[in-house]
Amino acid sequence: MGDLARLLKESWSLVEEHQDKVAGYFYARMFLSRPDLRDLFPVHMDVQRSRLLSAIVTAVQTLEDPEKFDDYLRGLGRDHRKFHVEPDHYEVVGGALIEAMRAYAGEQWGVEYDQAWADAYAVIAARMMAGAEADTNPPYWYAEVVSHERRAKDIAVFTVQPMQQLEFRAGQYLSLECPKFQPRLWRTYSVANAPRRDNTLEFHVRALGAGWVSSSLVRRLQVGDMVKLAAPMGTMNLDRRSTRDAVFIAGGTGLAPIKSLLEELTRYNRTRWVHVFFGARNREDLYDLADLNRLAARYPWLSVVTACSDDPTFPGEQGNISEVVARYGPWNDHDFFVSGSGPMVKATLKTLAELQVPSIRIRYDSFSEMG
Ligand SMILES: Cc1cc2nc3c(=O)[nH]c(=O)nc-3n(C[C@H](O)[C@H](O)[C@H](O)COP(=O)(O)OP(=O)(O)OC[C@H]3O[C@@H](n4cnc5c(N)ncnc54)[C@H](O)[C@@H]3O)c2cc1C
Ligand code: HEM
Repeated sequence: MGDLARLLKESWSLVEEHQDKVAGYFYARMFLSRPDLRDLFPVHMDVQRSRLLSAIVTAVQTLEDPEKFDDYLRGLGRDHRKFHVEPDHYEVVGGALIEAMRAYAGEQWGVEYDQAWADAYAVIAARMMAGAEADTNPPYWYAEVVSHERRAKDIAVFTVQPMQQLEFRAGQYLSLECPKFQPRLWRTYSVANAPRRDNTLEFHVRALGAGWVSSSLVRRLQVGDMVKLAAPMGTMNLDRRSTRDAVFIAGGTGLAPIKSLLEELTRYNRTRWVHVFFGARNREDLYDLADLNRLAARYPWLSVVTACSDDPTFPGEQGNISEVVARYGPWNDHDFFVSGSGPMVKATLKTLAELQVPSIRIRYDSFSEMG
């Protein structure tokens, strides 16, 4: 371990136990020296679940070689434009971070720790600012909701029309803010269609328990409302040069990016067999089955298998979709695309490993922590 990395780890271990208090102090310090920065953050801030402090600490500690993470840091800086972050904010945030750690570390804190954090933070911040500076796109796009349909108790499918051209590739996701209901809370959603001539984007959203943004999008959003969208991200794209057949495995609204990839395939595919495995808890949550069946009837290369894990009278497959895939096959020479909740993706990757599918042939998007 390099000297800098050692100093960062050593100093963080002095305060790690008091993370919540450090976070509280960090924000208080930041907002005291620059009250205007409070407006960049969500209205109801739960400091314990704060994203920023832990994000910075993780970045500073894991990005020992910023050269290697250049693309990520530039992307992060570009993305921060959606939060209205300006170059002069970086110094304030860096200063508040170091003061907060110093305040809780007590006497064991030393000047060499100050220097280590200042140096590491400065390198990362410089890369983020360079990424933001070089971006020619708007920081975000306004888009109007043009259709909104409840497909199940907790699921909605809606379409938005961006006010300006927003380019993306099939399979990508982007972050979305709903200023009318949840200002300054951004969450990530996959686009459910391939790029269209009319520039519209479709989203499939499930309302998650007490989740703030998803429940507003499902239960409150209406035609005519405006949302904000930030630049597309993600690499779960099709390799047009691949001649391998493909297997798409989706859990719940994990179907969204899979639908996007399918729509792209309908435009050029003639030769690849494509198998879709779509699983949910009960049949109501197989919210897009009618459209999948319509596609399967139209394109002879497409087959669809559905499964329910919690609906014993469902006439399709029974069980988790990760297990159902293993009942079919053989899957010796296929490209795999997996999308859904963290546990679903984790279980599916485990099945594929047991089936000895090389990981290089698997692409996945996990909607939550994989644990
Ligand atoms: C790459 C990617 C693509 C995604 N694509 C989609 C998609 O196409 N469709 C889709 O539906 N989702 C998608 N997601 C998930 C989405 O980004 C959100 O995580 C999801 O909608 C929940 O957001 P929320 O604001 O409603 O919940 P949050 O408020 O973020 O809460 C998340 C969970 O924590 C719980 N929770 C809330 N508050 C607290 C608290 N104070 N303490 C403890 N627990 C709490 C909630 O009950 C919920 O279960 C994607 C995620 C990623 C990373
Ligand atoms: C080294 C510098 C920084 C790093 C590594 C960093 C990293 C991150 C990361 C990874 C997130 C989570 C992103 C997401 O969930 O979409 C985030 C959120 C955020 N960052 Fe930064 N950031 C840095 C500096 C700053 C600065 C200078 C500001 C300006 C005040 C800022 C403001 C925010 C805001 C407002 C959020 C959203 C917080 C929320 O939703 O609770 N960040 N940051």
